[in-house]
Amino acid sequence: MKIAVISDIHGNLPALEAVMSDIKKRKADKIICLGDIVGKGPSSKEAIDICKKECDIVIKGNWEDFICKDYTALNQGKTDKISERIAWYINSIGDQRMKYLEALPHSTEFYFSGKLTRLFHAHPKNYNRYYQNSSLEQRLELFDFSDFSEEEKTADIAIYADIHSAYLQAGQGRYLVNVGSVGNPLETTQASYVILEGENDDPNFSVQFMRIAYDIEKAIELAKEANVPDLEGYISELRTAVYFKRSK
Ligand SMILES: [Fe+2]
Repeated sequence: MKIAVISDIHGNLPALEAVMSDIKKRKADKIICLGDIVGKGPSSKEAIDICKKECDIVIKGNWEDFICKDYTALNQGKTDKISERIAWYINSIGDQRMKYLEALPHSTEFYFSGKLTRLFHAHPKNYNRYYQNSSLEQRLELFDFSDFSEEEKTADIAIYADIHSAYLQAGQGRYLVNVGSVGNPLETTQASYVILEGENDDPNFSVQFMRIAYDIEKAIELAKEANVPDLEGYISELRTAVYFKRSK
């Protein structure tokens, strides 16, 4: 069984297409998306359609979470609460797809090579953000169960995204995996995703980190055509893989 785990597409269509074509080439049996399909780049709508069609499970990221809350506020006439930037993304996504995003689950879990494997966007309970160098206590929280979990059990393998930086850590008999970002990687510019490989009745398994080259200049051209909010920051991040500090 080969499971591809993608995340943080952020409306970058050339990156998503390159990753999907690589996944097909490697003949993954399942695709799981850990959220943040939307925002930042120009193609949120197209990215939603591809994830909806191609992925077996799609999880709600922090972008979907706050954008859906803003969408509700907008529908209640509380327009003063929504920034121009977020309104731009909501308009580009449209009502039908916003409803799809609202219904996405917080996490998913299954047994993989006999190990309870839980996948979520940032944290099993909320959207707290932890890095590979966060405290041990914080990283251990990522194995906790929550009201969103199916089993009230600590996970053996925790898989998340959110920080746009892929890594694996093992210790205390557990594995912590971050799958990185397809459309906005922040450690090297190639799109990132992970392939898990194993059988449930076999304890042996592998976690493979994929880095996929894609047409960055095409992604920039699309962003310019659409005139996305924070265009300068977006271009800089795609070309350098370094987080661009916005003025506010
Ligand atoms: Fe993200």
